[in-house]
Amino acid sequence: MTAPARTRDSAELIRAEEPVLAHNYHPLPVVVARAEGTWVEDVEGRRYLDMLAGYSALNFGHRHPALIDAAHRQLDRLTLTSRAFHNDRLAEFAERLAELTGLDMVLPMNTGAEAVESGIKVARKWAYDVKGVPADRATIVVAAENFHGRTTTIVSFSTDETARAGFGPFTPGFRIVPYDDLAALEAAVDETTAAVLIEPIQGEAGVLIPSDGYLAGVRELTRRKGCLFIADEIQSGLGRTGRTLAVEHEDVVPDVLLLGKALGGGIVPVSAVVARREVLGVLRPGEHGSTFGGNPLAAAVGTAVVELLETGEYQRRAAELGIVLRGALEGLVGKGIVGFRARGLWAGVDIDPAIGTGREISERLMREGVLVKDTHGSTIRLAPPLTITTEELRSAVGALGVVLGQA
Ligand SMILES: Cc1ncc(COP(=O)(O)O)c(C=O)c1O
Repeated sequence: MTAPARTRDSAELIRAEEPVLAHNYHPLPVVVARAEGTWVEDVEGRRYLDMLAGYSALNFGHRHPALIDAAHRQLDRLTLTSRAFHNDRLAEFAERLAELTGLDMVLPMNTGAEAVESGIKVARKWAYDVKGVPADRATIVVAAENFHGRTTTIVSFSTDETARAGFGPFTPGFRIVPYDDLAALEAAVDETTAAVLIEPIQGEAGVLIPSDGYLAGVRELTRRKGCLFIADEIQSGLGRTGRTLAVEHEDVVPDVLLLGKALGGGIVPVSAVVARREVLGVLRPGEHGSTFGGNPLAAAVGTAVVELLETGEYQRRAAELGIVLRGALEGLVGKGIVGFRARGLWAGVDIDPAIGTGREISERLMREGVLVKDTHGSTIRLAPPLTITTEELRSAVGALGVVLGQA
């Protein structure tokens, strides 16, 4: 007989991970055991306000009732078929996602990195089949400081040495230009260019918002030069910035849209390449696929996510509460923060380096019952669930003020 499982406390669980888990993350020392809405609770029952929301995978909060209900109902009926067969949930998911985004076709995948990889493959195929680029000559232009995921091909065009060092040889065919620089983009695009791939707002880089007109400029340039505009909205999309998509702030419709994170409702990994028919139509049976992509459970949850976004409520909340967030952060400028960038419920906050690193501030905030994560030195990122209340938002920024004042 095996001994009954003994409940381990947070410290023991953190220690237990050390020898058996790869050290590819450096989590804050909090062990989450349950969560509801905007709040998570650790093993000891301490409660924390979640101001990271799984890097935007939890835009609708933890365990949103409509999403949990959709998942439960699907779990009781059908979970996986593979794409060897059709399933009765996929058509509606694709129809509604295409309708929501104003595009035509959907390629369902699972993680964000897979969506990016798939978008790259589709763009290259389009370049050969439709644009007429000579075989194996296609190029894709990307931005410096990008973050598109962690696969070998994706880190091939990262400018972050930590993400690259030790992982070569790399995939060729990428050109890197400075972000938010249309002249550099113009110079890099030529007749071999299949696509320009950018984040409409660079999340990992610290919520870098390009100048007004940049996204519309990328749209105009790619159209004029005859290449695709691929917008990676895996983090910026699905309500986060106050619109369904961040490109909508400049009334731009890209040729290819990459979605992930919140598309899975914080329940299952769901990602997608969404594109015009002329582009995604290049794929033929056998050329690309995924055992789990488009599985019925993912499609049911993804459809329920689209249904929430169709109401417009979450986009509206992000826009309105974004004003509250901006106002609260403005009050801290010069009092521990040197500046911030914000759009909707998403902010990159630059801490005065004299006060502490982003990591130190994140740890102090954790002790005040607020969870955030640092990115790049002294920057912390705020991206709460879009279901957060005004009071919760104010109290989180208030806690940041307290922590900065303690220094
Ligand atoms: C813009 C962007 N693209 C792609 C990814 C990769 O997504 P995943 O971690 O699901 O592979 C991320 C993840 O943070 C992201 O922010």
